Amino acid sequence: SINTKDKALRNNTAPYLSGILFEDISHSGDGGIYAELVRNRAFQGSAENLIIPFAPTLEGWYPVGDARLSLDLLHPLSDALQVSLQVDIPLNATGEVGFHNDGFWGMAVTPQTYNASFFVQANGFRWNSTITHIDVSLRGNATGSDVFVSSTIDMASSYQPVAYQYRNYSVQLVNNVTAPTSNNSLYITMNAEELRGQTLYFDLISLFPETYKNRPNGLRKDLAENFKAGNFRFLRFPGGNNLEGYSIQRRWKWWQTTGPLMDRPGRPGDWTYYNTDGLGLLEYMYWCEDMDLVPVLGVYAGFSLDIATYDTGYTNANEWPVELMQHVLQEALDELEYLTGNTSTYWGAQRAAHGHVEPFDIPFVEIGNEDFFSYDYPARAAFMLNGLKAAYPNITYIYTTADLYATQPAKFNITLPKAVIWDDHVYAAASYFVESFDQFDNWQSYTYENNISASNDVYASLMEYHVSSIDNRTGDPTFDYALASVNHPRMLSAVAEAVYALGWERNPDTFKLSAFAPAIQNVNFYRNTPYLMLFSANPNDTVLSTGYYQEQMFNTYYGTQTLPFNITQGGFNPLFFAAQIDVAKEVVYLKVVNAGHTTQKLTVELDMEYGYVNGTILEPPVAGDLNAFNYFGNPTAVVPQAIDGLGAFGAQSVFSWQVPAYSVSVLEFSAG
Ligand code: AHR
Repeated sequence: SINTKDKALRNNTAPYLSGILFEDISHSGDGGIYAELVRNRAFQGSAENLIIPFAPTLEGWYPVGDARLSLDLLHPLSDALQVSLQVDIPLNATGEVGFHNDGFWGMAVTPQTYNASFFVQANGFRWNSTITHIDVSLRGNATGSDVFVSSTIDMASSYQPVAYQYRNYSVQLVNNVTAPTSNNSLYITMNAEELRGQTLYFDLISLFPETYKNRPNGLRKDLAENFKAGNFRFLRFPGGNNLEGYSIQRRWKWWQTTGPLMDRPGRPGDWTYYNTDGLGLLEYMYWCEDMDLVPVLGVYAGFSLDIATYDTGYTNANEWPVELMQHVLQEALDELEYLTGNTSTYWGAQRAAHGHVEPFDIPFVEIGNEDFFSYDYPARAAFMLNGLKAAYPNITYIYTTADLYATQPAKFNITLPKAVIWDDHVYAAASYFVESFDQFDNWQSYTYENNISASNDVYASLMEYHVSSIDNRTGDPTFDYALASVNHPRMLSAVAEAVYALGWERNPDTFKLSAFAPAIQNVNFYRNTPYLMLFSANPNDTVLSTGYYQEQMFNTYYGTQTLPFNITQGGFNPLFFAAQIDVAKEVVYLKVVNAGHTTQKLTVELDMEYGYVNGTILEPPVAGDLNAFNYFGNPTAVVPQAIDGLGAFGAQSVFSWQVPAYSVSVLEFSAG
């Protein structure tokens, strides 16, 4: 029975309980939510170069007509972008010459206005040409001659390429058609007759579709809209492991991700491909602004995750010496000045020069990521915390996870400092999630076996989690052990994650933040599973997982205060529930999860009279199918649906309902 009357027994809910962890993993950034359509746009590198991993390649680029393409190191566009595309036009070339780029495993072409741009320089010694035009078009790859849209840069009204200096050209492509597939390319072509025997150097060749909220250099609209519709409340960035780098030198250097694109060198990212850093620090902040998310800024804490570490698990090789941590601290202080300083500060003025005059608010900073790989995190974290707190006392700081689950030997003793949020990462079996329902009930009085100890004024979060395998906790006779590993979130994944989430919702004094990880995955290149969102170049392909829908339901029906209840018969398991009220809307939310393989009867007594019950449910399409999941071809196998047959309640205010097996529901009670 739910008690809506006794206001003294309520707690305010955590305002930022559910958010997004974003890092460039599985081409979620480049080739993903960062809307740039050209792959390898500045010849910085990729994962595919087998001789020197990450070295520059021509990947994604193909000649058109008689043109010959090669990489050039002698005509850098900038200090940051050192490699260019050399385009040689032979003396006997005829017709159309140039090059094309086929995008990140394709390039969707839909009715909209595209912005194309590039830099070009002429060869210094031999250049003696006059070009009348450069054509920019979007074409199908099948024949190369089905042109969907084309635009001409008229050199008479523009300027000629010149030697010794790059010039920037841009053009709009106003497209009215939908290409039948995403097997398309951006073409940049010229007339061979005007260029025989000549050489041109191109760099930073870019094509942007319309972006989310029309931000220049912004986010892919459809993917961003899905995040927005998930009703998340924070964005944690830039990782995850991608913060750390494969080496100290290759850490995410925030200052190299800001300013004009030609000044951003990019870096070999931690997830086996080169990152352009076009989606940089300011772009993350715009993402927060445009989606009304609170930033949770991850700062480097002196620990990098080299390839050897990754393979072998544990080494101290890539750690910043504790006695040199002042350097690392200064980088973080500079970053915070860039984000929050006014324009009279050095870095605040840089931010304004980059386009955002108003300082940002940074409520949360996370110190490092998964530094349980190292012995020295306690010392490094304390150094960072003290230095950051002295300058920014109003920020809430987050300590990165330790390995609580003893999958590896514990490495350090740590007592969490006052007012810090501890970030745990849980990638575990479904049963672990269900059994951890009450983990945070008395968390602050508990000392963990591996020597993390908490006290009354430290808080908890799960800034990365997902169900990684399915196990037969409930003794379900239909369980198929061959399907145990989770690549695509299943119905039971969402059920188990929902049970754990109820445990967070009912402990808002202790538990503050949570994020599923990894958030999004390019189906053509992934380095981790599962996901909230799976996508390809084609926007029609996007799959939203059971995990996405579970979070969307919990985030959408999220009250402002918890409500107490008594369990008068039965108990938790297999039914789990938690109640909240939205005080302004005067609606009671009862979230109900059935983690069992049979239908369960739920009876709710309310101290409200005369009202309405509405409900939303996520359930398997075939009753009891714990393996149901959304995928290409059937992306809506499991989606939230209105619960039929609810309706009004009267003076009795007793409500009964048969809760389907393996289901996640939210019931809404409102006064009539
Ligand atoms: O989510 C993928 C990775 O898992 C994160 O980058 C890392 O923090 C964790 O180990």
